[in-house]
Amino acid sequence: MIKTIKFKTIYSDEVGNLTFLEIFKDIAFPIKRMYYVYNVPKGVRRGNHAHKELTQILIALNGTIRINLDNGVEKELVILSDPDVGIIVEPGVWHTMEFITDQALLCVLAADYYDESDYIRSYNEFLSYMDKGYWKK
Ligand code: TYD
Repeated sequence: MIKTIKFKTIYSDEVGNLTFLEIFKDIAFPIKRMYYVYNVPKGVRRGNHAHKELTQILIALNGTIRINLDNGVEKELVILSDPDVGIIVEPGVWHTMEFITDQALLCVLAADYYDESDYIRSYNEFLSYMDKGYWKK
């Protein structure tokens, strides 16, 4: 379930690091939206939803963020703490993001525009979408 992307990075002890990603080379979809979540008090858990169609890439640009993923059958956990690593969250995955450290900065690259009707915010509703085979390809 967890798909990690390691972004290309130029590392330097002297002048610091530079990480970059290019559409269709490093990321499979054109980014239509980017948003970031910050000033989140340590220990707060956000998310608690799944998307019907939307694919997103999550990157912890600063600090440590624990991501819990649940596809209705199995649960997985990933700790994001390197700005050169992203994880892909596909449709049909219930996810939470727990801000472990102060000043953690979560950057999200989204394949589509904001659309509240794409959200499933009730876990029971998520399970019933699963049961109906909504995400079976
Ligand atoms: P939400 O995706 O629920 O954030 P989180 O999972 O981190 O708690 O979004 C929080 C609020 O912001 C919600 O009212 C929807 C709104 N929002 C937008 O208006 N545009 C956006 O691009 C995003 C991601 C959220």
